[in-house]
Amino acid sequence: MTNARIAGTGSYLPQKVVTNQDLEKTLDTSDEWIRERTGICQRHIAAEGEYSSDMGLIAARNALHMAGIEANEVDLIVVATTTPDKTFPSNACAIQRRLGVHGCPAFDLQAVCSGFIYALDVANRMIRTGGARTALVIGCETLSRITNWLDRSTAVLFGDGAGAVVLQATDQPGILSTHIHADGEFENLLEVPLGTDYMVMNGNAVFRKAVSTLGSIAAETLTGNGIDKHELDWLVPHQANLRIIAAAAKKLDLPMERVVVTVDKHANTSAASIPLALDIAVRDGRIERGQLVLFEAFGGGFTWGSALVRF
Ligand code: ACO
Repeated sequence: MTNARIAGTGSYLPQKVVTNQDLEKTLDTSDEWIRERTGICQRHIAAEGEYSSDMGLIAARNALHMAGIEANEVDLIVVATTTPDKTFPSNACAIQRRLGVHGCPAFDLQAVCSGFIYALDVANRMIRTGGARTALVIGCETLSRITNWLDRSTAVLFGDGAGAVVLQATDQPGILSTHIHADGEFENLLEVPLGTDYMVMNGNAVFRKAVSTLGSIAAETLTGNGIDKHELDWLVPHQANLRIIAAAAKKLDLPMERVVVTVDKHANTSAASIPLALDIAVRDGRIERGQLVLFEAFGGGFTWGSALVRF
C-alpha cells in the first residue's frame, strides 16, 4: 500500500507585529489579562494588499524548497482557508497559477481551525488511492479581516499567517492515520453571523468543548493505531489558547517540552496554525525524521480532527 509522507514544510508570517501593549491602546484590555487567559503575547497582521494566497504561496515555495521538489512535480493542491482572497476562484487556483503549474486538481477546503487536518486527510487519501503522488497541503489565513478590532472578546485572539507541507507517495510509513469529525449543532457558539463581516464567539463555551473534544480525539487516535500515549515524541496542536494546549498535553501525559507552542507569538491563525508550528519546530531541529508526531485541532463548525504522523 502506498503511504504519504511529509517531504518538506514551509511557513510565512507577515512582517507587521501587533503586541498586547498595542491593543491596550485601543481596547479595554491588558497585557496581563491576555497572557494569563490565552498565553498570547503578540500576533502578525497582514499588510494592506497582502492576501492569504500571497502568504500561502510563500509557505508552499518554502516547503517545496525543503523537499527538493520542483513545482512542476506537484499533482494536487489543497488549501485550507476560512479567509480566501475572493469568493472564487479559489486560493488553490491562485497559488497553482503563481507556481506555474497547470492541469492538476486544486481546490480550497473550509473547516475553520481544523482546516489543515481536513486538507491533510483528503490529500493523504488521494495519495493512498493513487490519485496523486506529490501534493501541496497549505493552510493560509488573514483572520485580521474578519476580526472586529473593537470587540475585546475576539480581537486579542487572532493573527495572520500561512504554513504548508509537501506530501509525497512513499512505501515507508508517513501519515499513519487521520480522523476528522464535525457537529453543526454548535454553529452559534463561534461564527460569522449571516449578513455580518466579523467573528463572534462564546469563548467560555468553546473553551470547555475544545478541551473535552481534544481529549476524545487523542484517545480515538491512540486506540485506532494501537499505540500508547507514551510512544508520542511530539504534540503539534492547533494554537488557540495555551490553557487548551496544556490541558491536551496533560491528558497525554506529555511534558510541555514535547509540545510545540507558537500561540504566544502567532496567536490563533486558524487553518495555518498547525503547519506553521510544525515548520518552526522542524527548522529549529526539535522535530526530527523518524519521530512520532500527533497533530490535533478543534474549531468553528464545530469541526475537529487529528493526524498521527511518522515524520
Ligand atoms: N480583556 C479583558 N477582559 C476581557 C477580555 C479582554 N480581551 N475578553 C473578555 N474579558 C472579560 C469578560 O468580559 C469577562 O468579564 P466579566 O467576568 O466581568 O463578565 C471576563 O473577562 C471572563 O471572560 P470569559 O470569556 O469567561 O474568559 P475565559 O477565561 O473563558 O477566556 C477566552 C476567554 C480566552 C476567549 C477563552 O474562553 C478561549 O480561549 N476560548 C476558546 C477559543 C477557541 O479555542 N476557539 C476555537 C478555535 S477559533 C476558530 O475556530 C476560528
